[in-house]
Amino acid sequence: MIDKIGTEIMIGGIRFKSNVLMAPLAGYTCFPFRLMVERLGAGSAYTEMVSSDALKYNDRATSKLLYTDDRERIKCVQLLGSVPTVFERAAKSELLAKFDIIDINMGCPVPNVIKAGEGSALLDDIPRASKIIEACKRSGKVVSVKCRIGMNRQRIVIEEFARMCEASGADMITVHGRTRDMMYEGRPLYEYIKLAKQSVSIPVFANGGIYSKEDAEEMMEKTGADGIMLARYGFENPLIFSELTGTPSCDTKYSLLMEQLETAGECYDELYVLTYIKKLASYFMKKLPGTKQIKQRLYKCGNISELKNILGEIFDNKR
Ligand SMILES: Cc1cc2nc3c(=O)[nH]c(=O)nc-3n(C[C@H](O)[C@H](O)[C@H](O)COP(=O)(O)O)c2cc1C
Repeated sequence: MIDKIGTEIMIGGIRFKSNVLMAPLAGYTCFPFRLMVERLGAGSAYTEMVSSDALKYNDRATSKLLYTDDRERIKCVQLLGSVPTVFERAAKSELLAKFDIIDINMGCPVPNVIKAGEGSALLDDIPRASKIIEACKRSGKVVSVKCRIGMNRQRIVIEEFARMCEASGADMITVHGRTRDMMYEGRPLYEYIKLAKQSVSIPVFANGGIYSKEDAEEMMEKTGADGIMLARYGFENPLIFSELTGTPSCDTKYSLLMEQLETAGECYDELYVLTYIKKLASYFMKKLPGTKQIKQRLYKCGNISELKNILGEIFDNKR
């Protein structure tokens, strides 16, 4: 089973070079980051969630989220919403024409999202969730669903939900093995990811709580999933993709940051680049001791050349 990590997989007729994916992370999985993890071995990486409703305004914020170009091998966009017709219009729109895969967010636990009947609220409205999948499928694109196992331990619905996803035409499901009320804490409940895998014949990916190679192996072994999706740890240590997939890399965290500075500089304005690189650098520093003062300088820094100097000091040009 462990040998399966890092192998190729077909999803809806698209060949992924590995079954290790990078999850959508709002505020983090921008184009330069997705490009980098693909290079390091990820089968693909998802945009952060984009409101299906906001697409009709085509404002600057949304177009930043949707930025991609042909360097990204497989282009996956994640949509959030609750109205099937709005999803259908978004999925067929020119703005999403370049994306190969539409992922539907059925897992976001945030109160405002739930109130709007979006994200994990759809776990409690299976007929609506089904209509949303069918609506996206009418675009002719490959469609995946990212969901949790239920709202809470008393209402675990993953078996019925996974079957509904397959019957409605989904090409793949990613199961985050936590309930909505667990938010982002606690060990994932492997047995329910396993139940989803046993209930359908489309690929099932497992997500939640993977912070090391050992966690990845445990996830695959205990769930029998077809692949894994990394989230927070993928952002903290993108080199894990190279480790898990056997993709050769001589990168250090410092070289990755310099690469990201360059790619982000090609696509975004300076303010965006500064904000993004600061976030990435602070994730990279999570396990470095004694960084309090330099972190403060990092957060305050206001231009790219100063940023480069600080990053050089923190990462010693080689870590
Ligand atoms: C800051 C943050 C932003 C997130 N944004 C999204 C998102 O846009 N779409 C989504 O489906 N999940 C989102 N998630 C959930 C992750 O994709 C993932 O399911 C969750 O973090 C569990 O995986 P982990 O324990 O490996 O981090 C987000 C999580 C965090 C912490």
